[in-house]
Amino acid sequence: LNVVHVASEMAPIAKVGGLADVVSSLAKAHQASGLLTEVILPKYDCIQYGEVHELRQMTSLEVPWGPDPNRTVRTVVWSGCVDGLPVYFIEPHCPEKYFWRGKFYGEPDDAARFCFFSRAALEFLARRQHEAPDIIHCHDWQAAAVGPLLKETYKASGLSRTRAVLTIHNLAFQGHISGSLLQHMGLASRASHLAQPDVMLHGHGHGGGHGGGQGGPGHVSIHPNGMAANYANLTLNLLKGAIVYADRLTTVSPTYAREVLGEQMGMGLHALLQRHVHKLAGVLNGLDYETWNPATDPCLPAHFTADDTGGKRACKAALCRELGLPFDGVLPPSAAANDHNGNGHHDGNGHHDGNGHNGNGHNGNGHDASGTSAAISGGGWGPNGRPLVALVSRLTEQKGLHLMTAGLRAAVEAGAQVVVLGSAPDPKVQQEWEALAREVSCGGDARIVLRHDEALSHRIFAGADMLLVPSMFEPCGLTQLIALRYGTVPVVRETGGLADTVHDVAHSTAPEHERNGFTFTATDAQAVRSALARAISAYRDGREWWSTELVPRVMRQDWSWTQSAQRYQDIYSAAILG
Ligand code: ADP
Ligand code: GLC
Repeated sequence: LNVVHVASEMAPIAKVGGLADVVSSLAKAHQASGLLTEVILPKYDCIQYGEVHELRQMTSLEVPWGPDPNRTVRTVVWSGCVDGLPVYFIEPHCPEKYFWRGKFYGEPDDAARFCFFSRAALEFLARRQHEAPDIIHCHDWQAAAVGPLLKETYKASGLSRTRAVLTIHNLAFQGHISGSLLQHMGLASRASHLAQPDVMLHGHGHGGGHGGGQGGPGHVSIHPNGMAANYANLTLNLLKGAIVYADRLTTVSPTYAREVLGEQMGMGLHALLQRHVHKLAGVLNGLDYETWNPATDPCLPAHFTADDTGGKRACKAALCRELGLPFDGVLPPSAAANDHNGNGHHDGNGHHDGNGHNGNGHNGNGHDASGTSAAISGGGWGPNGRPLVALVSRLTEQKGLHLMTAGLRAAVEAGAQVVVLGSAPDPKVQQEWEALAREVSCGGDARIVLRHDEALSHRIFAGADMLLVPSMFEPCGLTQLIALRYGTVPVVRETGGLADTVHDVAHSTAPEHERNGFTFTATDAQAVRSALARAISAYRDGREWWSTELVPRVMRQDWSWTQSAQRYQDIYSAAILG
C-alpha cells in the first residue's frame, strides 16, 4: 500500500494541536509496518525547519488557479525528511503569499489558502513520475477540497484509481468558501452539482462560525446548460463536500463517531453523516511511544517507568522549582526572591533559568527521589500531601473554559497546587487568562503559563499528579493519553474519546485493570469540583493512589498505535476494494 497524507499540521515541525501529533505518529506507525507513507504540507514560513532534514527544491509546477482557467500559479515543491518520513512542502509564488503569514491559521483568506494547497497537492501527485498513491488520506477541512477535486477535476488523470479517505478530527471546523472559489479550483463546470444542498451548499441561518446547516432547498437556480446561475454568491461547505466524495470516512474515537450522528454534536452535519454512515468508522488515536516515553524523554530532568516511579517525584520537585511553587511546603529560594521583586510568574516568558531545564540535576530541590516507598514517607503523598493538578490545553470553548477556571479554583481551595499551560487563539480569552494569572499567582499555589511550549508540556505531564480535561466535546483528546503514559491520573468529562479512554476508579463498570481516572458528566462547576475532590482525597489516602498501584497501573495501559494503525490499514483496503 502506498499512502499520502495531505494535512495542514505535522509534529514536531508544524503543530497547533493533536492533529499534528496524529499525522506524524500514524504515518510513522504505518511506515514501520511496511507501508509506503508520505506527507504533503504547506510550506509555511513558521515551520521548525531545524527538524527537517535534506530539505531541497524538488520540482516546480504551474498550478491552475484563478477565475481565468488559463491562469496558473508557479509553485515550488520541496522535499525533506522529518523523523524518517518523506515530506513534501507546497510553496506557491503568488502575490497573496499564502503561507508567508507567520502563523498557521486565523487569516481571513484561510479557505483560499487551503483550497489552493489541496489543488496543488493533487497537481503534484498527478504529475510526478512515481506510481500514483493507492490512498490519499485527507485530514480535516483544510484538506477537504481534495476529495471533490480528485473525483471531478482529476478523474481522468493518473490518479483515477486513487481513493480518498477523510479523517474528521474536529467537526466544529468545516471550512466555508464562497462559490466563486469553485472557479479557482477548476470545479466551475460541476457547480450545478456541487452547489446543491446535499453536496456542498452551506445552508442558511445555522451554526454561526463553527456550524454549517444542511441547507434548505431552492437556493440554487439551474440554467438550461447545467450551470448554477448564482453559485458564485453562495457559501459552500468544504467538509460537507469531502464527506460526500470520500471513499471512507473516519473520526478519531468510537464514541465521537456515534455522537456526530446526533443533532447535539453533529454541528449541522448529522443528517448528512447519517446518510454516509456506511462509510464511517471511529478509530481511536494512538500516541507516538518514542516521543512520549517517560523512561527516555530528553525533556525530563529524571526518568521513570511503571516498575520504578521514583523519577516521577524528582520530576515534580524540579517542576515546582521551575514554576516557583512550593514543593512539600517548601518555597524554592529563587521563587521567594522573585516574589519579593514583584514580578510574579505570569509573564509568559518562562521561569527562573529561562530555559526551564533547571540544570541543577535530577534531584529537584534535594528531596529523596530514590523510590516509591521513600517518596511516600517523604511527605509528598499521604494526608498532608499536596497534589499538583495540571491543565495543558488550547484555551477554547471546546475545552470547557468555565470548567477549567472552576476546577482551578476548586483544586486550590482543596489544598492542591495547579499549573496551567494554555494557548489562547482568541485575544479576548488570552486577556481573561492573563488577568486570572495575575490573580492566582499572588496566592502562591497556582501558576498559569500562557504560550505554546512543547518542552514544558513534557515536564508538566511528568511532574504533575493529575491532569484535568473538562472538555465540552472531545473527538479524541491526546493529553489524557499522554498523562496516563506518564503516571499522571486524568480527571475528565465523559465525552467523545475521553469517555472511551478514561474509566472512573470508583463508578465505572470497566474491569478493575482498566480503571484509570476520575470522570464526571455534567457541565456545571459542581461536577468538576466533586470529581477533583474525589481525586485529591484518593491522592491523600496514599493507599489508593499507590498501594492499589493506580500510578503504575495507568502507566502499563497500552495507548500506542498498534491496534489503530491496523484498523486504518483495513479501512484503506476496504476503500480500494470499493
Ligand atoms: P486538540 O488537538 O483539540 O488541541 P488534543 O488533546 O488532541 O487536543 O491535542 C493537543 C496537543 O497539543 C497535545 O499534544 C498537547 O500536549 C498539546 N498542547 C496543547 N496546548 C499546549 C501548550 N500550550 N503548549 C504545548 N503543547 C500544548
Ligand atoms: C482535534 C480534536 C482532538 C483530537 C485531535 C487529534 O484537534 O479536538 O480531540 O485528539 O484532533 O485527532
